[in-house]
Amino acid sequence: MRALCWEGAGELAVRQVPDPELRNAGDIIVRVRRSATCGADLPLLSGRTPFLAAGDVLGHEFLGEVVEVGAEVRGHRPGDRVVVCAAVACGSCWYCRQGLYASCDNGSPTAARAEAAWGQPTGGCFGHPAALGGFAGSHAEYARVPYADTGAFRVPEPLSDDRAVFASDAAPSGWMGAELGGVRPGDVVAVWGAGAVGQLTAQAARLRGADRVIVIDRHPERLGMAERHAGAETLHFEHTDVPAELRERSGGRGPDVCVEAVGTDAAAGRSLADRFGAGRAERPIAVREAVYTCRKGGTVVVLGTFAGFVDTFPLGAIMQKGLTVHGARQHGQRYIPRLLNMMARDQLATEHLATHRLPLEQGAGGYALFRDRADGCVRTVFTP
Ligand SMILES: NC(=O)c1ccc[n+]([C@@H]2O[C@H](COP(=O)([O-])OP(=O)(O)OC[C@H]3O[C@@H](n4cnc5c(N)ncnc54)[C@H](O)[C@@H]3O)[C@@H](O)[C@H]2O)c1
Ligand SMILES: [Zn+2]
Ligand SMILES: [Zn+2]
Repeated sequence: MRALCWEGAGELAVRQVPDPELRNAGDIIVRVRRSATCGADLPLLSGRTPFLAAGDVLGHEFLGEVVEVGAEVRGHRPGDRVVVCAAVACGSCWYCRQGLYASCDNGSPTAARAEAAWGQPTGGCFGHPAALGGFAGSHAEYARVPYADTGAFRVPEPLSDDRAVFASDAAPSGWMGAELGGVRPGDVVAVWGAGAVGQLTAQAARLRGADRVIVIDRHPERLGMAERHAGAETLHFEHTDVPAELRERSGGRGPDVCVEAVGTDAAAGRSLADRFGAGRAERPIAVREAVYTCRKGGTVVVLGTFAGFVDTFPLGAIMQKGLTVHGARQHGQRYIPRLLNMMARDQLATEHLATHRLPLEQGAGGYALFRDRADGCVRTVFTP
């Protein structure tokens, strides 16, 4: 089959690779119909992630048609249209039973690397060859889905592929962000980052009854989308004193809930430490701003992907202001059925995020558009 392979720092190419095969009785094989880019791919693409090898297939946010099922699969039949959770989890270990699917003890065959990096193994993720399992990604004609009864979900008929594909990763991440933040009616919620994850966090916060949702970014097209589709207010961080403006819009206290959906590509480091630290450690610029801005006793949620160590982390402010800080990879298996339901009832719209739809052959160009945020690109969605 054809697949979009990482070839080296910044290099992608479509190659012929072996077709995936059923390996375990709980596997299914999916013919991919939609596979989206994600901010989490950017550190991989740039070559900053250890363990990535030439020929590895990227992609983890996808939807397709079941073509083969393993002997023990109960919930899927060939021909079913399914959206697949980006996170790989067994569904039966202690963590999965608590709903903490991304922390699954059995989801990652490369758990030893995760254990070395983070003290304990974590669950897997498609298209993350490094510490998260080594599963081939979805930017390909076919994908093998392990633990399919836990991680693949039948898509209700009226739902379009372009809407439902976001139930794989961006929508559950955003929903989880609002849930971990404990967003309640009346809250003021600030969201750093107006990519798909930030925008869907803003939508989730609105759906949970937040009074004001304020999204921060520097790309006017993305901010415009957050206004139109999430009913959010927006701030352009290059033209605004963000902490001062957020205080102003929250009765002088600061937002009740601050969600960071930016990650390591954070732009606009203003401190000397950020400029000297560049290249040495991950820069938690938006996390730091969220911690300083959040009201005392409020909650900060880190959705952005960090994998190692950060410079100048404001532990003092967290302690002195009594903040609660959450971080997590999305436990999508917990949220996807409900999100698909909301999508089917038009309570949650996502297809506008698929700004560019391209064949796999144009994978390298599709990633360049996404990486450079060119031509208003929010997500490139491949149609293999
Ligand atoms: N927790 C999870 O399970 C999960 C799932 C998917 C993605 N992610 C992570 O979430 C983050 C966002 O994902 P995405 O796909 O929306 O990414 P994206 O790259 O499309 O968007 C990130 C946005 O952040 C903005 N930004 C940069 N610096 C900023 C700053 N200082 N203040 C405010 N905004 C700033 C950028 O302009 C960009 O629009 C990434 O780090 C990604 O890896 C996490
Ligand atoms: Zn992702
Ligand atoms: Zn598990």
